[in-house]
This record gives sequence, structure tokens and C-alpha cells, in this order.
Amino acid sequence: MFSLLFYLATTSSDSPAGNSIILASTRLKPACLRQEAISPFSKQRPRPPFSRALEIVFSGETKPRTLLDIGGNTGKWSLRCAEHDKDVRITVVDLPEQVSVADQNVRDAGQSDRIDFFPVDLLDDASSLPENRDAAWMSQFLCCFSESQIVSILTRTRKALNPDGRVFILDTFWDHQRLEVSAYCLIMTSLYFTCLANGNSRMYDSKTMLRLIDQAGLELVSEHRDLGISHSLLVCKKKSK
Ligand SMILES: C[S@@+](CC[C@H](N)C(=O)[O-])C[C@H]1O[C@@H](n2cnc3c(N)ncnc32)[C@H](O)[C@@H]1O
Repeated sequence: MFSLLFYLATTSSDSPAGNSIILASTRLKPACLRQEAISPFSKQRPRPPFSRALEIVFSGETKPRTLLDIGGNTGKWSLRCAEHDKDVRITVVDLPEQVSVADQNVRDAGQSDRIDFFPVDLLDDASSLPENRDAAWMSQFLCCFSESQIVSILTRTRKALNPDGRVFILDTFWDHQRLEVSAYCLIMTSLYFTCLANGNSRMYDSKTMLRLIDQAGLELVSEHRDLGISHSLLVCKKKSK
């Protein structure tokens, strides 16, 4: 009945000629078909820049020995971590049906001794995360949730961390874009999320995310912009009292 256009900027190039925009059109469908709507979108979204992020996560004095991959999806990031660092142990946290997909991928890659799984619905405020971890990683994850849900998830993540632990948040913040068209396209993507996904998801700006980080008892340690296509990495720790 209605049609919705959404644009996704897929370049970090300063050259106008290098800009490429994916234009997709779809039809609004009943809420029961949301998953169908999310899948084609996910395929168009820029892939997270894992290579550069690995260097940041595993450098310095806070190099993690234990890491939660929250919203770990197929286990791709966890497998990259296991390949990158021979000592790190990883727990993939995701919905039960998704964890079983990741579990199979990890078995196929022969990494079951280094990567384990924690199936959970983090929308349940009473749920908790495995504790005593050096790091928690969230890539293209918090954008799936409302502001109050993000504060709840980050608060539980803080509890799971060791005293000097780090939270790594990788996402496409629209106020961090070098190109105006990228910011515009990301903002418009929120329309798609709201109408076709779960009604809560949004492409956030970094200022909103930093406010939610603060409310969850965390503080920013460092920020890395222009990773891959349109991504930024926020590195956070527990607030010093
Ligand atoms: C957009 S994907 C991000 C995947 C991956 N981190 C990446 O960067 O490619 C969001 C992930 O969050 C998971 N997720 C969504 N809602 C969740 C919930 N309520 N509890 C736990 N995981 C959830 C999804 O199953 C999915 O794997």
C-alpha cells in the first residue's frame, strides 16, 4: 500500500565521484513480517570494519583476555578475534536461535575450545551477562534498541566487566559522517527501522549515545572515527567515582 525509500551512503571517500548510494525501495508489510524486512536491509548495510577494530581492541595495556561479543550474530567477529589473538577467550551473546547458528560456524572453524555461547534475550531487564570479563564488544547492535533499553543493556554490561574492563561500541553515528549525504541517508534509515523493524531501532548520533553511556555508569576513554565505511568506535570504561 505504501512505499518507503531508504538511502544508505556507502562511502567514506571525499571525492564526489567516489560516492555511491544504495537506493532501495520496499513495501510496508504487517508487523509479523518484520524479520523478512530486516534481512534485505542487513545485506545492504556497510560491513563493520573488523580489521582496523581488531588492532584497536587488542592493543595497549587493556588488551582483553576475556571478551563478550554481544549481539554476536553468526560469530564472525568472535572468530576474527580468536584468529587475531591466540590467548583471548570469547563468549557470543545473542538470542537462542542466533546462537545456534554461531555455534555451528564456530564448530566448523574448529574454535569451540576458545569460543562459547550465552543465549539470552537482552530485552528482558532481569537477564544478566556472564561476569568477570575484560571487554564487551557491540557492533551494529545498540541501534536495534530504544534509549531506555540501551541504558538497561549497558548497565548490565558494566556489571559484567572487571574493574578496568572496556566496552567497545562500533556503529554508524550520523553526526560523525564526513559527507552530508551519509548523515542524511543514515537519518532516513531510522524511518525504515521504525516502520519495518521493531519500532525502536534508530541510527543514533554520538551525543545521544554518550548521554546513554553516562546514564549507564560508563565514561568515554577514546573515540576512533572513519573506520571502514561510515563507522566509529567508542571505547568506554566504568566511571571513576
Ligand atoms: C544488526 S545485528 C549485528 C551483528 C554483528 N554484531 C555485526 O556487527 O555484524 C544485531 C544482532 O543483535 C541480536 N539481537 C537483537 N535483539 C536481541 C536481543 N533482544 N537479545 C540479544 N540479542 C539480540 C540479533 O540477533 C543480531 O545478531
